[in-house]
Amino acid sequence: MKRHELIKKYLDFFKSKGHKIIPSGSLVPENDPTVLFTTAGMHPLVPYLLGQQHSLGRRLANVQKCIRTTDIDEVGDETHHTFFEMLGNWSLGDYFKKEAIEMSFEFLTKILKIPAERLAVSVFAGDDDAPRDLEAANTWLKLGIPKSRVAFLGKEDNWWGPAGLTGPCGPDTEMFYWKSKKEKPPKTFDPKDNNWVEIWNDVLMQYVKDENGNYKEAKQKNVDTGMGVERTVAVLNGLEDNYLTDLWHPIIKEIEKLSVKKYSVAKHNDENITKAMRIIADHIRASVFIIASGILPSNTERGYVLRRLIRRAVRYARELRMKNFTKQVAAHVFQMYDVDYPELRNNEKQILSELENEENRFLETIERGMKIFQELVKNKKALSGKEAFLLYQSFGFPLEMIVEECKNRKIKFNEKDFFAEENKHKELSRSTSKGKFAAGLADHSIESTRYHTATHMLHKALKLVLGQEVQQMGSNITPERMRFDFSFPRKLTNEELKKIESVVNREINRGLKVSFVEMPYAQAVKTGALSYFRERYPPIVKVYSVGDFSKEICTGPHVKNTKEIGKFKIIKEESVAQGVRRIKAVLE
Ligand code: ALA
Repeated sequence: MKRHELIKKYLDFFKSKGHKIIPSGSLVPENDPTVLFTTAGMHPLVPYLLGQQHSLGRRLANVQKCIRTTDIDEVGDETHHTFFEMLGNWSLGDYFKKEAIEMSFEFLTKILKIPAERLAVSVFAGDDDAPRDLEAANTWLKLGIPKSRVAFLGKEDNWWGPAGLTGPCGPDTEMFYWKSKKEKPPKTFDPKDNNWVEIWNDVLMQYVKDENGNYKEAKQKNVDTGMGVERTVAVLNGLEDNYLTDLWHPIIKEIEKLSVKKYSVAKHNDENITKAMRIIADHIRASVFIIASGILPSNTERGYVLRRLIRRAVRYARELRMKNFTKQVAAHVFQMYDVDYPELRNNEKQILSELENEENRFLETIERGMKIFQELVKNKKALSGKEAFLLYQSFGFPLEMIVEECKNRKIKFNEKDFFAEENKHKELSRSTSKGKFAAGLADHSIESTRYHTATHMLHKALKLVLGQEVQQMGSNITPERMRFDFSFPRKLTNEELKKIESVVNREINRGLKVSFVEMPYAQAVKTGALSYFRERYPPIVKVYSVGDFSKEICTGPHVKNTKEIGKFKIIKEESVAQGVRRIKAVLE
């Protein structure tokens, strides 16, 4: 079974059951500021799961592109991926448990033709938040799954969601496939036996989790299911290694060609080569999709995830002696996915050039770091934690490479010293940022207070003019001027600067009232209040509003009315670091 066959079978089946096929939503969640990427098919559907009407009705299905960043470091084994595709079907207050389970069973046994002897299921065992799911269990029994193949498990296994901090969630029932061809499936389902692989999850969404962590009965009962394409294709083909399936094949082949090495899972093979090839394949595929969603490499949030992925791929490619590889590998990602995801071809030029630029930037960083490293260890037998941290922090030289180079040159180096040094710096920046929680404010004079409110307005204006991706990277205020650092990949044009200036002045002249309300941090984020990602906020925060223009988490102080601010004027725009710009402005 190939990737496109599985997808087609799934979508055709649910179409035949009255579902409308919807396109994959964006990788950047539109309605949830608490997570960086779309992690499941239900994510773009949250408003509809909460009761909003969907124009295509109550039964939907699709294949959704997803990114999970929690286990980037696990990528390199047979089964972990950063990017993956999830098949899903949804009932928005239409059918519930019984029908959902019946449809899942029919698809697995009739369409995928999996013998029922190879299937087992788990259902929710019940706890203080929700009762034991006997209805789900009984439905499985009626379909012919024997009692010994139904496991009752707790929340850590049989509960799903919410995707962010709050939202729809509920008990789920998971379906497992016995993958071993050598051993016959045992009568009793043991969820700890690795031969049972989870292939599908039906979430029975009956609850909504609120900001205080309580589970409330949902007004609308939904079904949300998820089947991972990579894993299902692998197990249905009897493969232990996802990278041996058709969807990875051309990408791995290209890496073999570029590195002049073989991908092999045979015992005699060098495991490091196989691991490096998997990492390169996974990270470049994910990077292509992330850039296609409008994200550029940077030092914050999504851009930082992207940067890490590309740089990790480059590091492993270096080990395989591959150069100028990002474009070539990416070309196969386009071929595999362009029919289902037109955003790839539509942004092809930009995606390829961003990959190439980041690859080259990182190679330069490595080269510079190597020179400093050689200086540091000249005529020496050891590298201290302090020196290693300097290399890492100031020159962007990866810790893994420090370890590797020391090993190659027989230089003594203890990673523990590095982490001790890193912790010292964390403490230091924590205490400075605590001091800065008054938002870069040096004093509380009337002048500084005017500048402070102007900072909020500039922050908002930057997002409006340059795009929501702009992130505050720092600010500094004196009674004479303000400085504001933010993430942006290039120099601003004069038109953009004029526009930003005039948006701020337009809003100042509206005479907006400035006020605040206190609320829990999670709720503040939910209301869309801007925040400063480096900051560690207290549980209860103040959200300052400048009329209807800006909303930001902050401790103040601020002017009462924007008329007090005066005229806002940008005097300089410059670069402070790769991907970070600085605006200096004064009030006249
Ligand atoms: N949202 C569910 C999952 O990700 C289906 O497993």
